[in-house]
Amino acid sequence: AQTKVGATLRADQPGAVIQPEVYGQFAEHLGRGIYEGVWVGEDSPIPNIKGYRKDVVEALKALKVPVVRWPGGCFADDYHWRDGIGPRDKRPVRVNVLWGGVEEPNSFGTHEFMDFAELIGTKTYLAGNVGAGTPQEMGQWLEYLTSDTKSTIANERRANGRDKPWKVDFFGVGNENWGCGGQMTAEHYTNLYRNFAEFVRAPRGNRPVKVASGANAQDYNWTEVLMKGAAKNMNALSLHYYVIPTGDWGKKGSATVFDEQAWGDTLVQAEKMEELVSKHSAIMDKYDPDKKVGLYVDEWGVWYDVEPGTEPGFLYQQNTMRDAMVAATTLNIFHKHADRVRLAAIAQMVNVLQAMILTDKDKMVLTPTYWVFDLYKPFQGATFLPLEIDAPQYTIGKSSVPAVTATAGKGTDGLVHLALTNVDPNKTATISVKLTGLSAKTAKGRVLTGPEMSSRNTFEKPDAVKPVEFKGATIKGDVLTATLPAKSVVVLDLN
Ligand code: AHR
Repeated sequence: AQTKVGATLRADQPGAVIQPEVYGQFAEHLGRGIYEGVWVGEDSPIPNIKGYRKDVVEALKALKVPVVRWPGGCFADDYHWRDGIGPRDKRPVRVNVLWGGVEEPNSFGTHEFMDFAELIGTKTYLAGNVGAGTPQEMGQWLEYLTSDTKSTIANERRANGRDKPWKVDFFGVGNENWGCGGQMTAEHYTNLYRNFAEFVRAPRGNRPVKVASGANAQDYNWTEVLMKGAAKNMNALSLHYYVIPTGDWGKKGSATVFDEQAWGDTLVQAEKMEELVSKHSAIMDKYDPDKKVGLYVDEWGVWYDVEPGTEPGFLYQQNTMRDAMVAATTLNIFHKHADRVRLAAIAQMVNVLQAMILTDKDKMVLTPTYWVFDLYKPFQGATFLPLEIDAPQYTIGKSSVPAVTATAGKGTDGLVHLALTNVDPNKTATISVKLTGLSAKTAKGRVLTGPEMSSRNTFEKPDAVKPVEFKGATIKGDVLTATLPAKSVVVLDLN
């Protein structure tokens, strides 16, 4: 069975630049996300570079991660930065009340995160504590991080081993303050935001982008109130949206054991990102017609029930071809909204929710989601090119989504890149793309697919799902034709 799709690429009508930061990642003190996932300590038998596990560092470097958000999440509004500085053996042990009630040794703190960011070559996005903190605490954290003076706080940083100030690229004023970040109303948070944000002070040339803590999914009132009351005080506003395949937080479904109905239902939930981003953007347009304020989807991804036998508070889940489809679908939506969506962070980087990387002691696997991010690397910093597509629906039960989605961009390498996703798990799709405003002769690239909807990489078979060369595309005259395998993501370079 085969799907036929027609499309037109308009290379002569360039849109906004797809900011590299749309490919950002979120890393929270949650489960094995930081401890074991990134940080094992210098004395660990697991090969490490100054305490950071070597395999994970190399995998992240290869992915060109543009930005990492830390330390939360919910953890951020319960985190006091002073707990995480100074000699490691003297740092206080706290209880991570949010995630499993486990001991938080604070051995990964400000220095460890900022140095990690330098090690993997990524921008830094810190989330500050509004829920249980004070403006003074937030202001002093910024001083500790960025001051080049001889102030007592800057000298404390030096005494702790860091002479030069770090670059703080983005600073979030709280996280989910409608929920775990303080159970606030939009009005209350708006006032607090203005207050706290005023103390996010840093020297000229090292001022972070100030990010207000945004809405949960379709809470449009939150965006409305924040934009009305504080648009002038912020550089960006966040949005969080998680795909829950069943739509029921109490029973989200398994990451690996699922049928085709669950596949379709998951994709429908993923498609909702389009409506969410459009509607939040429309509200922002009312108060900020010049689009000065970015919309940062700084938590997104699929959230399943945890893997059987694992600690429920650790949010550890496997990752399959279904997650690869969600990742590609979502990134395609972000590209379309590149004028407003200027940063996004998938939840999360290692061992938590829709992870890029899974570890088990000294073993590591790269997930299908990792490979989608790898395929999409040429879109970091590319200029969006409109692509009209006329695809039939893929339908299962009451769930229906376009069978094929596509996105295009002119990369910083000068080439046009085309990403094509066929979400139908049963049918190949042949797409004919009329190329306008560009003359290309070859279309080469890679494809990610797997034999099953639940194909995945395991510690026993780490390379079961991996991109391979794609040989199914040709260009004749001004028409590119590609035959996409069922459930596949293809990224092509046009030359
Ligand atoms: O990513 C897990 C949690 O999801 C984060 O801590 C929180 O911000 C969100 O609810």
